[in-house]
Amino acid sequence: MTDTLTLTRPDDWHLHFRDGDMLLETVPATAAVFRRAIVMPNLTPPVIRVADAQAYRERILAALPAGTDFEPLMVLYLTEATTPADIAAAAASGIVYGCKLYPAGATTNSDSGVRDPSAIMALYEAMEKHGMPLQVHGEVTEPEIDIFDREKLFIDRYLLTIRQRFPDLKIIFEHVTTREGVQFVQDHDSHTAATVTPQHLMMNRNDLLAGGIRPHNYCLPVLKRREHQLSIQQAVLGGDARFFLGTDSAPHARNKKEAACGCAGCYSAPAALPLYAAFFEEHGALSRLEAFASHFGADFYGLPRNTDTVTLKRDPWQVPAHIHAAGETLVPWQAGVALQWRLA
Ligand code: NCD
Ligand code: ZN
Repeated sequence: MTDTLTLTRPDDWHLHFRDGDMLLETVPATAAVFRRAIVMPNLTPPVIRVADAQAYRERILAALPAGTDFEPLMVLYLTEATTPADIAAAAASGIVYGCKLYPAGATTNSDSGVRDPSAIMALYEAMEKHGMPLQVHGEVTEPEIDIFDREKLFIDRYLLTIRQRFPDLKIIFEHVTTREGVQFVQDHDSHTAATVTPQHLMMNRNDLLAGGIRPHNYCLPVLKRREHQLSIQQAVLGGDARFFLGTDSAPHARNKKEAACGCAGCYSAPAALPLYAAFFEEHGALSRLEAFASHFGADFYGLPRNTDTVTLKRDPWQVPAHIHAAGETLVPWQAGVALQWRLA
């Protein structure tokens, strides 16, 4: 049995750092393992212009422990007021690596998002022209549409058209949760990819609802049936380079999760790499972890792979029950669970 595992240093291609004092928890937690992260822009107010991204980037860098090598890859939040000139400025900035499409109302802090994703064709066109990737939260938002069907409907209604009209646009289907999402990616060429969270690999909706409601497993897009989980697993275990690591680590205070109307988001950063390692090992595919965590995402974004390494050693530990941060208590995803691998 292997007892140490050395990998090219990984990157996290979908992450929520939040802001203010919370950065003192989230930034060190991620930077201890990952060299880069795509930093989601759904702050209040959201990161809409290059100047917002620059200021947020500085706040993130200020929260880095001394001597840590970490690069936040900033993202602009698309709104109905975003212009092609904003896209051009983002491309010229050198610090923005994508623009995120949040259908208005789809998830945490998405109210400033786009009500009609087919009404911003000029923005996709500008992104294609400037080589700016589009990160998509792929769910429709109408209250009458069943929450378990929202991903599939988004693909049928919007994404297929966007994909066809802008063949050179890089599209990342963020946090894929369904067989249809996996299929959408696999039906297209190397300009289409998806990030995969640990919760959508390791869980299905039974883990949310069977035997009691588990608010710490609640995230958006919501966990789906087991057959969907299996198709995500298959894509990842098969080594398809279009599927790569994006934790979607998204802390919310404990009292906001354990509530009558609980927030969506799993804080997975403190255990992210050991969690993915557990998944690959359980499926006899530990040798596939490195490409998923450290190669495929960089290759897709057209960025160099990292040149240093991280080492995991087999040394059982437990995900902490609580973490105190910014005057709040966080319950990390998989709190109390025993993991075999830890960072050396
Ligand atoms: C994220 C958050 O809390 O910011 N929540 C989540 O459940 N994933 C937003 C998001 O990525 O949808
Ligand atoms: Zn997210």
